[in-house]
Amino acid sequence: MAQDFEGRVAFITGAAMGIGLATVERFAARGCQVVLADITNDLEDTARAFDNSGSLATRCDMRSRESIEAAVAAAIGRFGRIDILANVAGIYPSASLQESDDAFIDEIFDVNVKGVMRTCRAVLPHMLAQGGGSIVNVSSGAARKGLRGLTAYAASKGAVEAFTRALAVEAAPTIRVNVVAPGVTGSPKVRAGLTGEKGPTSIAGASRGTPLRRIAEPEEIADAIVYLSSPQASFITGETLSVNGGSLMT
Ligand SMILES: NC(=O)c1ccc[n+]([C@@H]2O[C@H](COP(=O)([O-])OP(=O)(O)OC[C@H]3O[C@@H](n4cnc5c(N)ncnc54)[C@H](O)[C@@H]3O)[C@@H](O)[C@H]2O)c1
Repeated sequence: MAQDFEGRVAFITGAAMGIGLATVERFAARGCQVVLADITNDLEDTARAFDNSGSLATRCDMRSRESIEAAVAAAIGRFGRIDILANVAGIYPSASLQESDDAFIDEIFDVNVKGVMRTCRAVLPHMLAQGGGSIVNVSSGAARKGLRGLTAYAASKGAVEAFTRALAVEAAPTIRVNVVAPGVTGSPKVRAGLTGEKGPTSIAGASRGTPLRRIAEPEEIADAIVYLSSPQASFITGETLSVNGGSLMT
């Protein structure tokens, strides 16, 4: 594996499991030092697995400016720089609009939208001072495809894409800002929810509407995040890269 991120530092939110953990693994495999940021308390064991590349585990709640700023300060204290921000943390509870009270909607937007804005705001001054950096925010195919029970979630991920385009202009030419939009991805939490034999709550059901006839693996989403953070994507900013097996075409 090419060590093309040697000397680089990636700050990854939602790093404890699923797509975030796969992103940690992919960056670490390419020589990057990784900061695992998550609301989960027991990150230490996960972080130890990456000690060869140098890693830091830090508790970080996307709902709290103070928590995010403390996590970013810890990363700067340890490594002196942050080259890459991957905003993977997110929540995806399902409810119809009629079932969604204000507290439900506020919680989704606090984590998925305001959390992403807070981490970008906290990291930006460091990247500007360094003279470079890359941010990748994670949205969802739900931002563009109408899906039942996901009105608040879809709105939050649409906001992530709109925010990213605006920030890409504001942060240029020093920092590139992009989005990865996954389709259904087999993180442990999603797999645990797809327990049906058939129908929409089964793996087969989720795969049916996808031209490539399967759901994604977390590593396939992580690879897109790593690509957009790499020198190979040096002229890409303000873009959304869909990784969904073609499901938006059908
Ligand atoms: N898995 C999918 O099918 C899928 C599809 C499209 C988009 N996405 C998006 O990809 C991202 C990751 O999805 P996943 O399936 O790996 O999720 P997951 O539930 O497996 O992991 C999410 C991580 O985010 C952390 N987190 C939750 N709330 C947090 C908070 N307030 N502060 C900090 N960390 C917090 C959790 O502790 C967890 O480690 C999410 O943004 C999700 O919306 C997932």
